[in-house]
Amino acid sequence: MKYRRIIYTSHATKHFNKRNLLDLLHDSRAFNEMDGISGVLIHKEGLFLQVIEGESLFLDDLLERLKRDPRHDDVTIIDDQPTDTKLFPKWSMGCADFDDPSLSLIPGIRTDISNPKVIDDLIKRLPEIATLLAENIE
Ligand SMILES: Cc1cc2nc3c(=O)[nH]c(=O)nc-3n(C[C@H](O)[C@H](O)[C@H](O)COP(=O)(O)O)c2cc1C
Repeated sequence: MKYRRIIYTSHATKHFNKRNLLDLLHDSRAFNEMDGISGVLIHKEGLFLQVIEGESLFLDDLLERLKRDPRHDDVTIIDDQPTDTKLFPKWSMGCADFDDPSLSLIPGIRTDISNPKVIDDLIKRLPEIATLLAENIE
């Protein structure tokens, strides 16, 4: 398979406001563009869920950096699969911040992402989220 897709959750170690999140996205997008990585980052009340997809070696490298990053901890991989298709080909890192509606691009998803059932639901809906992002934001 051409690509690999990893989904993980983590806990922010400090409060993430709009400014912190934009800084993080700014850097992440630049790195991801260089490495051909795409995905989406969801944030709600200090919990992150991120989907990252791209070539396996670049993802290994990103995972190492993520695990070292003191801005979050408890990095828990909930899915890691080879794939031939990217769900978020246009997104060096899409973002949905449920704490700040102006950053939230994903309407209609129940937002208690600390609940494992909701995370399951979210993962099932990833193709739908990808379509939504592609249709609504260029
Ligand atoms: C929740 C979260 C998501 C992140 N997502 C990415 C990402 O998609 N791509 C990326 O290059 N860095 C991402 N980072 C930042 C990396 O952890 C790391 O700081 C950055 O890649 C620079 O690496 P370095 O500090 O080892 O130079 C993320 C950090 C956090 C806390």
